[in-house]
Amino acid sequence: MGSNLDHIYPVSDKMLPREAKEELLGQRGVVIWMYGLSGSGKSTLANLLERSLHEQGQMVKVLDGDNVRSGLNSNLGFSDEDRLENIRRVAEVAKLFADSGIITVTSFITPNNELRDLARGVIGNEDLLEVYIKASFKTCAERDPKGLYAKVEAGEVKQFTGKDSAFEEPSRPDLIIDTEALSEDKALEQLLSAVIAKVGETAS
Ligand code: ADX
Repeated sequence: MGSNLDHIYPVSDKMLPREAKEELLGQRGVVIWMYGLSGSGKSTLANLLERSLHEQGQMVKVLDGDNVRSGLNSNLGFSDEDRLENIRRVAEVAKLFADSGIITVTSFITPNNELRDLARGVIGNEDLLEVYIKASFKTCAERDPKGLYAKVEAGEVKQFTGKDSAFEEPSRPDLIIDTEALSEDKALEQLLSAVIAKVGETAS
């Protein structure tokens, strides 16, 4: 039995190396993998982070669940299998951006440790900062920025994370941003300093 990879020959030796792009941009490509419940503050913080870094002259790309699910992943739903494929594709895309020297910020629920490990496996420890954006289901339901929790309550949304689809507490995030305890400014400040430290690490 052949595999999908039979007769596939990835080239890397002839390609312009990543370092050349990082030198051009004057930065290091990393992936900031932000995860947590819907309504925990991921998208808000991802956008604030992007703007702050941009103002400091850094090139950033945000990959956000709702946006990516409207395009690249529009054929995927919320079964365990589809969430895995969603995260696998996003991790591969994030890696492509980071390989181009871009600071890549992802904003996906990534509901369990298997999926977080999958992303880590694709991206690699050196290039990854794993950030748990923490807020309880109750708080997220109260915030309900998209009116989704109200729909869940009305029985209109199935396989909803934290309700009838599990959200597993993370085992070893690099950073936890507790958006119940912190103001938006403080949350951004903590995130920014961790990201700047990560970008500043020299690749070994
Ligand atoms: S993940 O579990 O595969 O990582 P992802 O972050 O891409 O999820 O998508 C989550 C977003 O999709 C939520 O912010 C919400 O707006 C929307 N959504 C729609 N249906 C669901 C659902 N059943 N569970 C969670 N989020 C949903």
